[in-house]
Amino acid sequence: MTDLAVETVHQNIHQRQSIGHLVAPAPNAAQLEMAFAAALTAPDHHRLKPTRFVVVAEAEREAFGELLSKALADTGQKEEAQLERVKHHPFRAPLLVLALTQLQDHPKVPHFEQILSSGAAVQNFLLSLQSQGFSTMWRSGAVVESLLFKKALGLKADDLISGIIYIGTAVKAIPPRPEINVSEFVSNWKK
Ligand SMILES: Cc1cc2nc3c(=O)[nH]c(=O)nc-3n(C[C@H](O)[C@H](O)[C@H](O)COP(=O)(O)O)c2cc1C
Repeated sequence: MTDLAVETVHQNIHQRQSIGHLVAPAPNAAQLEMAFAAALTAPDHHRLKPTRFVVVAEAEREAFGELLSKALADTGQKEEAQLERVKHHPFRAPLLVLALTQLQDHPKVPHFEQILSSGAAVQNFLLSLQSQGFSTMWRSGAVVESLLFKKALGLKADDLISGIIYIGTAVKAIPPRPEINVSEFVSNWKK
């Protein structure tokens, strides 16, 4: 990689910031495909491929909001205002992608490694979209624990809804990320 390419890759990583309110345009099919392909190169012990993605297109957001509301009720939420509020969540962005983790029992790959692999896949996905000019927000919420929600997505009870990723274009710039003091998080191992 040239110095310029290295700098560009690092700029892309550093510039990614979650944005809660997103508008059109969303990525087109080819752009999304590029991001899924990047996601699926994530480190993955024994290539179990635990991650699945489900696209919630713009036209499906109302129906998906209804499902979110049922999922929230399924978690025990009884407050009508909360059940109503969640119906509007999909409208925070023109496109949503669900990241699912289908866990397999494998003698050498514990579940936590498969979950980490899914997390890495999601980060690749976010960075690919960022490099293509889009913004994102990785969300979850109480709904991801709902068995009703998991079943509606074809998951088993132990599988995970690892993220509801909101995708679109940022309306306005947000303040830069506060500087991170790397030395607070890194140390040298000593015997
Ligand atoms: C698995 C996962 C689930 C998350 N769920 C939510 C969420 O439901 N709501 C929320 O406000 N932020 C959620 N976040 C945090 C945001 O995605 C984001 O990382 C955080 O606001 C920090 O912003 P940044 O990405 O710009 O550093 C979640 C992050 C992860 C990794």
